[in-house]
Amino acid sequence: MTTRRTIAPEELDTLDLADPRLHAETDLSAVWRHLRQRRPVHLNPATDTAPAFWVVTRHADVTAVYRDSARFTSEGGNVLETLLAGGDTAAGRMLPVTDGDKHAGLRRVLMSAFSPRALEPIVASVRRTVQRLLAEALDKGSCDFASDVAARIPLGAICDLLGVPDHDRAHVLSLTSAALGSHDADSTPADAWIARNEILLYFAELARDRRESGHSDVIALLAGSEVNGLPLDDDEIMLNCYSLILGGDETARLSMAGAALALLEHPGQWQALKRGDAPIGTAVEEILRWTTPALHAGRTATTDTEIGGHPVRAGDIVTVWNASANHDELVFDAPGELRLDRTPNKHVTFAHGPHFCLGAHLARAELGAVLAGLRDLVAEMERTGPARPVHSNFLSGFGALPLTLKAA
Ligand code: HEM
Repeated sequence: MTTRRTIAPEELDTLDLADPRLHAETDLSAVWRHLRQRRPVHLNPATDTAPAFWVVTRHADVTAVYRDSARFTSEGGNVLETLLAGGDTAAGRMLPVTDGDKHAGLRRVLMSAFSPRALEPIVASVRRTVQRLLAEALDKGSCDFASDVAARIPLGAICDLLGVPDHDRAHVLSLTSAALGSHDADSTPADAWIARNEILLYFAELARDRRESGHSDVIALLAGSEVNGLPLDDDEIMLNCYSLILGGDETARLSMAGAALALLEHPGQWQALKRGDAPIGTAVEEILRWTTPALHAGRTATTDTEIGGHPVRAGDIVTVWNASANHDELVFDAPGELRLDRTPNKHVTFAHGPHFCLGAHLARAELGAVLAGLRDLVAEMERTGPARPVHSNFLSGFGALPLTLKAA
């Protein structure tokens, strides 16, 4: 099993839930349980460098905050990193950090590229890629499942959507990892800032190219659309391309590597999947709940208000923790057990309400392809080294997972 130091609830007052190492290196499940039961709206105190923020842990309160973008806006930033730094420069222009009419209009434009029908060719290509990657891993007999399999699936799909040329894809992937700073415990905010700017420049160039040459990808769709009667400018196009990579690459691959690890650590569930006792669609939802790749989302209160009866002031930073809500005993029977046939499964892995993940259908299809591939092609998996956790207060999962695989 992956063992991490368990943090006891008594340590709560000395914890800073914004600290990436805390999430990577320790097991916070007892802390989340304590917060849900005793302090469902808890104040993470200010530090020398960052303001205080509310930590919302119950499923009912988390969904209430997600639903209400009038009282809880994303425009101050939607993750701790930007909220604590004082804001997101893409606010009002990039989908996840835009609210109101502009958000609704922009989302309508993008939705047309993310409908199950529009995604059919991309999903078909994802399935082929998964089969090929698993066959290669089986041929070799061993792999790092995180980097050799999981990392090669979602970015390919997003690059297909955006029309990114093959020869640029490895470069875009390494910039994405650096921008999120999640793979290296020692990466600095300056490294992340540089990588983010490089990605934006890359998309600015691609957008210029697409405006001139009639392509039919998401960049061309954005370039040819109006939101509230106005065309999108180059900045808005490049920010929304970036947002697909930011939202849909690492999250999805963490869910896939997490799926392989969960099956390894729960042989009974692995056998249930192989016997067909748990349908792929149901198993996908449980893996999404179990892995919860996006630990939290953040908002700013727009008015003096309350959450679950607890007063919150206008301007306060509010974080909702999917990691906790997905284990809420009031919603999930035996939340600490992996049950691939769990139904219903009201996880909030993709959030809830107006900002519900735009890429949810694609992510489910990707994870489904991996689970079906493992079920059909692999007889046995064994771990050959430690799974390496990513360092982030936003992303959760493993960036390395060395395995041996035997063919079915
Ligand atoms: C929004 C999680 C895959 C694109 C979100 C949000 C969450 C989330 C929690 C809400 C953020 C908020 O409310 O502030 C995930 C997880 C994924 C995944 C866990 C994989 C397992 C994808 C994929 C794409 C994508 C594959 C696209 C290729 C987006 C976009 C938004 C979003 C554009 C913003 C939607 C809006 O604000 O209206 N995602 N996501 N995500 N996601 Fe995903």
